[in-house]
Amino acid sequence: MLITPDIELRRAEAADAQALVDAVIRNKDHMRATEPYRAPDYYTAKAQEERITSANGVVWLLFEGERVVGRVELSGIVRGPLCGGSVGYWVDGDYRGRGLIPAAVEEVAREARDELGLHRLEAGTLVDNTASQRVLAKCGFERFGLAPGFLHIDGAWRDHILFQRLLHDDPPPHIPK
Ligand SMILES: CC(C)(COP(=O)(O)OP(=O)(O)OC[C@H]1O[C@@H](n2cnc3c(N)ncnc32)[C@H](O)[C@@H]1OP(=O)(O)O)[C@@H](O)C(=O)NCCC(=O)NCCS
Repeated sequence: MLITPDIELRRAEAADAQALVDAVIRNKDHMRATEPYRAPDYYTAKAQEERITSANGVVWLLFEGERVVGRVELSGIVRGPLCGGSVGYWVDGDYRGRGLIPAAVEEVAREARDELGLHRLEAGTLVDNTASQRVLAKCGFERFGLAPGFLHIDGAWRDHILFQRLLHDDPPPHIPK
């Protein structure tokens, strides 16, 4: 799907692993304050391929030509009465402020509802990550709590603001009609 005339969003495939590694290496400094500790092997095609093909998550990438300029990930997908997953995202430091991630998250929410059958998306941001909070507000997420010491980010356990978006009200598919 085209997000802008030049930027395409598509589900990641194993063959995209090297382009993704190039992007995470290029953005290492840009990402440090908002991401968990990354072991050195995170910056390898093998590790990125494992994330792309993980059974309980789905990865989408933003491409400008062959170059990866952003990623949106649904992780921790749980079925049954929860039917939800967690959204995470980043955009290349040179591509911020163009509305790329809100547009990508909107499409991911559509696919999560229509193709994955999910009922709820959750996201958490650092308390001072106003850029990410703006993304979630633009995409219809509502704040529902503050989780003290929620994630270990940039060397310490950090409080996070939690957001959710409900995608539909239908019962989960395992319940007989
Ligand atoms: C958060 C992030 C994904 C936003 O993506 P984006 O495509 O730039 O989103 P938007 O264009 O809608 O901009 C969102 C907000 O970023 C801020 N912003 C805009 N231009 C910016 C720039 N050049 N640099 C930094 N922040 C900028 C503004 O507050 C903007 O809100 P506004 O549109 O109401 O003014 C991006 O900043 C990023 O990758 N940050 C590092 C990783 C991260 O924080 N991930 C989320 C973890 S919860």
